Amino acid sequence: MTKDIGVHGNLFGGIMLAWLDEAAATWACSVCQNPNMVTVKIDETVFEKPVKTGEQVNIYGEVKGMGTSSVTLYIEARNKNFYTHKEETVCSTLFTFVRIDDKGNAIPIEESIRKRYGSC
Ligand SMILES: CC(C)(COP(=O)(O)OP(=O)(O)OC[C@H]1O[C@@H](n2cnc3c(N)ncnc32)[C@H](O)[C@@H]1OP(=O)(O)O)[C@@H](O)C(=O)NCCC(=O)NCCS
Repeated sequence: MTKDIGVHGNLFGGIMLAWLDEAAATWACSVCQNPNMVTVKIDETVFEKPVKTGEQVNIYGEVKGMGTSSVTLYIEARNKNFYTHKEETVCSTLFTFVRIDDKGNAIPIEESIRKRYGSC
């Protein structure tokens, strides 16, 4: 929407990052079957292509690594052409999330989940 667009007519990088963080956090909670996941790291993020008003952005991901209390996700945003349905990568990065307890300390992700993704 126009409120998300900067003076050059492109989507603000910070807005895109917020979308990626929200999508990735939601998915981290789903993968780890726990709502208490916090972002500890966002890797280098390159804004490869501009996003313009009215364009559709789809966000995809893949589990890249599973530690004791952390999970690392590759997250990619793609611009989808409404007419041709072709998608083009506009931005991608790696997010790391940590499971925390009610005091904010890191705690292990359930063992069965770690085993499932252990070979990532
Ligand atoms: C996430 C947090 C609890 C980790 O605390 P910590 O003292 O570093 O905890 P630990 O040393 O026990 O590390 C916990 C995990 O985080 C990982 N981690 C910590 N710092 C990291 C970094 N800079 N990059 C990647 N992973 C990191 C560790 O590798 C470890 O993973 P593992 O258990 O899978 O091996 C703490 O850094 C924090 O509260 N950060 C703020 C989170 C936040 O507010 N995010 C924004 C809003 S969601």
